[in-house]
Amino acid sequence: MVGTTGAAPGHENWSSRAAFILAAIGSAVGLGNLVRFPAEAGANGGGAFVIFYIFCIVLIGLPVLLSEILIGRHGQAAAPQSVRKTARDSNASEAWSILATIGMIAAFLILCFYSVIGGWVLYYIGTFAGEIFNSGLFSGAFQGRSAEDVQGLMPGLFANGSLQVILHLVFIGITIFFVARGVNRGIEFVATWLMPIFFLIFLGITIYGLFTGDFGRTAEYLFTFDLSKLTGPVMLAAVGQAFFSLSLGSAMMITYGAYAGRDINLAKTSGIIATADTSVALLAGFAIFPIVFAAGLDVSAGLGLMFQTLPVAFQTMPAGTLIGLLFFIMVFFAALTSAVALLEAPTSWALDKFRMGRQRTTMITGGLVLLVGGVAALSSTVFAGWEPLGFIPLFEGQDFFNTLDVLTGKVMLPVAALITAIFVGWIADRRLLDAENGLDGAMHHIWRFLVAWLCPIVLIAILVVGIFPGILG
Ligand code: PFF
Repeated sequence: MVGTTGAAPGHENWSSRAAFILAAIGSAVGLGNLVRFPAEAGANGGGAFVIFYIFCIVLIGLPVLLSEILIGRHGQAAAPQSVRKTARDSNASEAWSILATIGMIAAFLILCFYSVIGGWVLYYIGTFAGEIFNSGLFSGAFQGRSAEDVQGLMPGLFANGSLQVILHLVFIGITIFFVARGVNRGIEFVATWLMPIFFLIFLGITIYGLFTGDFGRTAEYLFTFDLSKLTGPVMLAAVGQAFFSLSLGSAMMITYGAYAGRDINLAKTSGIIATADTSVALLAGFAIFPIVFAAGLDVSAGLGLMFQTLPVAFQTMPAGTLIGLLFFIMVFFAALTSAVALLEAPTSWALDKFRMGRQRTTMITGGLVLLVGGVAALSSTVFAGWEPLGFIPLFEGQDFFNTLDVLTGKVMLPVAALITAIFVGWIADRRLLDAENGLDGAMHHIWRFLVAWLCPIVLIAILVVGIFPGILG
């Protein structure tokens, strides 16, 4: 173990700046970029959503990202404890730790449905691996089967509740295994091995897609800004996606910041994380939409884009079996490094609070995810038609699985980020955080302005018009 700070017994630090950056990027880049971004962009009309999303990343996400990591590094403890320490050192109320409590609960709830999707990814890895024996590694996948048949894989899986529960169990089991090993031997290990492989496969597949797909049409779709399409719900979806993608408002960046040493320039690091994350999301759009357009499929297919549309594309691609298999392995690596971060947020809190040892604590937090996620895994079968918050307009028509997604992405993450901006912008002692932020001159003032003014105002406005779209008339 490297660099014990003495803040809390057993407190570990990242072994290097690169390890911290890779782990943070590993957390940020995940199903949010590869599955949720294309799905949300398609469902919200393309360009207006994408451009507003980029606006949110730069002007809201990035300042909040730096704020969260700063709080963590100052506190050197789990998220709520770090906020409490920062508040205490600023002579402010410890009640501000609510921002981390909301975030931690959000991280837990996200993991409950994230792990179910992780399970679907495992299913597709297995299916494509099986295709090696049926179709051969170097031919298109699913030879001799109709496109409808291949598209039917997803509804087939959705109809099989017990299989979904088992896959969810396997995915969360792998996540628990690595989190239980600790920061250096588990989380860092996963990030430093899997993220470079992820980027290699991702680059290969994107270049392949750029040469074979309908690039022009995709660029037009993703970047044509039509102001009339920028409604309250679209803005809320975009800001929610920005937070989800950067892992903000989920206590997670505070948690990882606590393992960062004083020698790391946090402003630069935040910039690298945001750039890597946004690039992967946009490139994922460029990898997926050309195929969708070429095949004349529906852009608003949501999660179906990845799990129904792409498998059909791999059917006709040269070496489709191999590319499909690599593709889903890559998605799995990205999902695992994010899932590990999602589990670490509540686990590190429980670890600091109950001091029961990392392995036992991880088993308990992971076990709870297994239970609640199990209900999400059964949303399309046993619990079909159950809309737990259906009486609230924002949640109308949403089953348990989707309720978790909407509740976290559109309510909890933006609210936690809003409180974070107010806390850092107005409450916390400037001297505590400013000395550590790695910004100088104009950049420092810009960051201060964004956190104190722009973030709170825009977030409140978006939450209001997004949740109550009627207000805009
Ligand atoms: N950022 C991850 C993704 O885009 O898939 C999801 C996520 C991970 C959200 C960790 C929140 C978090 F704390």
